[in-house]
Amino acid sequence: MIEVLTETGTQEPQRIRGLEMPWNRVMGSNEGAARAAHALGPWHPQEFMAECVETVPEAGGMMTFVFRRCDGAPLAFRAGQYVNVAFPVNGEEPEPVDRSYSLSSSPTEPWTFNITVKCDPTGLVSPWVHANVKPGTVLEMLGPVGAFHLPDADRRARYLLLAAGAGITPIMSMVRTIHSLPGQADVVVLYHGAAAGGFAFHKELAYTASVDSRVKVFYSLGDRSIPDGWEGLSGRLTAAMLEEVAPDANGRQVYACGPEGYLNTATELLKKVGVDDTSIYMEFFSGDRQTLLEYQAEVALAADFAEGIAEEIAESAEDYYESQPTAFGLYEPVYDADGTLEASGLPLEIVAPEAPGSDASAESAGGEPEAASPDASSFDTVGTGSLTMSFMRTGINVRIEPSERILEVAHRAGVRIGANCKEGMCGSCKVVKLSGEIEMNHQGGIRAREISAGKFLPCCSTARTDMVIDA
Ligand code: FES
Repeated sequence: MIEVLTETGTQEPQRIRGLEMPWNRVMGSNEGAARAAHALGPWHPQEFMAECVETVPEAGGMMTFVFRRCDGAPLAFRAGQYVNVAFPVNGEEPEPVDRSYSLSSSPTEPWTFNITVKCDPTGLVSPWVHANVKPGTVLEMLGPVGAFHLPDADRRARYLLLAAGAGITPIMSMVRTIHSLPGQADVVVLYHGAAAGGFAFHKELAYTASVDSRVKVFYSLGDRSIPDGWEGLSGRLTAAMLEEVAPDANGRQVYACGPEGYLNTATELLKKVGVDDTSIYMEFFSGDRQTLLEYQAEVALAADFAEGIAEEIAESAEDYYESQPTAFGLYEPVYDADGTLEASGLPLEIVAPEAPGSDASAESAGGEPEAASPDASSFDTVGTGSLTMSFMRTGINVRIEPSERILEVAHRAGVRIGANCKEGMCGSCKVVKLSGEIEMNHQGGIRAREISAGKFLPCCSTARTDMVIDA
């Protein structure tokens, strides 16, 4: 007998309670076959090369780039995390430009992974990425990084996911992850955009919401004029809008990603509708607010969790880290005499002395510091402290105490060094140390090779000796 299902006859699926990431079970397994799969445990940033295998144009001036690791290993990450990518935007120049991009794909499909890049025509990197990264392009990456991610297990998985513009990228990873996993969940997505046709992933979101009763998606058109036929919400984020899409917002974990103004507003409004601070997670890189503390707490939590899991499995933590893909050693990038990566023909980073007047290759930890440039003696000196940092490009000497973070002191003195996370994760503050010794506690924002070449992250470093810095 053939059973014909109608809408009214369709039953809701039965699901196990809560949401659990698949690697929890893999990590807890003592079975031999699980050893290789330990690579799926997303605990540790890794340096790896990845090849673009597909590009997918998205609405809103965005493009998805699908990658696979060159070593054939899966990329283990958590939904919401990002990777730091080195883009050789300067062609033959030796210095690539690093940028952080959220992963938009789901970690439950780890053999390929996506980043989705919005093209900012005035930007240095994103137009280059849109024009140059194609199937076959090989890039150097570091990750996964970031404390903005779904938990590894949630018995009461109720989420409110807020996104504005390109902020949909990590949120999309979360939606895809939840959709791909069994388990009870209740997800409300509220996605703000500037134009009716500019919502990236809208077809997939509509499909997901239509087949997965756990996911509801709302769109709002911000403060722009509303075209005829628009069926979504209109206006910027308000408390009334939050109440409308999620009357039970105060019982949900809230993840929000978008521009600074949007996130500031969201923070205020979420408090207004009763959402506790501890239930709010934001992807926010300007570093001028609570984010540092939140990141620190999240990173500490993640470390504790990793430790707990490591104790559960029979092998030692050391064995575990050895099982990570970086230790597989399957892929060794090959550079020709020009510093070009042979695998792709793309000009990538050349390991060479880089700053004028520096022998950066000799600047490994513990290497002999060079003498400071004699010019530094003519610079103005500001601040107080027992040590002196000379910023050669800015032309200033800054006094610093050994306990102070270098970036903070440099910024106070007016030295221009870009910085996002300020926690050693994103790599955006990377500068070259011409001489002196530092103590650095980074969290994946810099590669071992870069450290050997004399670079460091001033946001998470303190000075041990007088320093000369190329900034
Ligand atoms: S600001 Fe992110 S690593 Fe320094």
